[in-house]
Amino acid sequence: DGLHSLMVAAGKLYFGTAMETNNFNDAAYQAISTDKNEFGMFTPENSQKWEVTEPKQAQFVFTQADAVAQKVKSNGQLLRCHTLTWHSQLPSFVSSGTWTPATLTAVITAHITNVMTHYAGQCYAWDVVNEALNEDGTFRESVFLSTLGPAYLPLSFSIASKVDPSTKLYYNDFNLETSPRKADGAVKIVQLIQAAGAQIDGVGFQAHLNVGQTPSRAALAATLGRFVALGVEVAYTELDVAHATMPPSEADRERQAADYVAAVGSCLDVERCVGVTVWQFSDRYSWVPGTFPGKGDACLYTRDYQKKPAYKAVVKLLQGA
Ligand code: G3I
Repeated sequence: DGLHSLMVAAGKLYFGTAMETNNFNDAAYQAISTDKNEFGMFTPENSQKWEVTEPKQAQFVFTQADAVAQKVKSNGQLLRCHTLTWHSQLPSFVSSGTWTPATLTAVITAHITNVMTHYAGQCYAWDVVNEALNEDGTFRESVFLSTLGPAYLPLSFSIASKVDPSTKLYYNDFNLETSPRKADGAVKIVQLIQAAGAQIDGVGFQAHLNVGQTPSRAALAATLGRFVALGVEVAYTELDVAHATMPPSEADRERQAADYVAAVGSCLDVERCVGVTVWQFSDRYSWVPGTFPGKGDACLYTRDYQKKPAYKAVVKLLQGA
């Protein structure tokens, strides 16, 4: 039994992971990622971001993300698609452009329409808007906010639902798990989109967590529940749990295991939590040390594909569910 088949047995839709084309020529990685008992859902880690899919205005490039999508599809696994309107990894024509509300609306409309049309019918969900909030729950500064105000959020969702209403449309962000004020902001985003009459189906909790600073299973479940009460589903979309000091001690590794169990357990506790995606499953490919030097070992498997205490604890949790 693997992570995905155990999640399905526990009544969830999937256990997933981020994957990218640079993982394709790693035989040990592929042996694990193509095991349908282990993973049922894949998120392209970078290749569907705006700077890759539309590097120059109206020039769409899908080669890299198509390779991920094709691999997943040919193996009978599912795709979570990531992401459309995001302030980061933007091509310079967007981030440095001079915009009016009308011209930026046209650019967002063309981007979402082209990318979602290309992947129509292939995505379980789309992260339509990513990371629109500051830590205090106010809206994050971006070319989108400064030109259009918060209206860019319902705008993005309403365009997306016109292109592919069958895919689940998500708002996705980090630290919603740990910051009540940021979660307040995300509640307001869901309400803003609903009040505009636009479709929103889910909220993605990235869950980039830190060892020893992860809320309890009950607290995490309560936060998920705030969103379910608004009528949307929820998921953990980028789960990892980073050690603050490297290398971790045995006690650190046990704490990491408990933190993973709290996160996955909280999804089990909330009926409309549909699944868990980890942001890479091996430390070999984790984004953490590149962004936070000195932190790391955030994944379920070591660099050499050994199962960590965290992996074993999640399996044990799911076997008991
Ligand atoms: O592709 C270029 C390559 O051509 C160049 O030589 C190299 C030199 O730095 O950079 C490569 O681009 C890197 C890219 O990943 C692809 O590997 C960027 O520098 C690097 O910054 C980028 O990092 C990604 C990061 O998003 C960017 O924001 C991480 O892989 C990816 O894991 C991370 O994922 C995000 C989610 O999308 C949203 N939530 C947070 C999460 C973690 O930051």
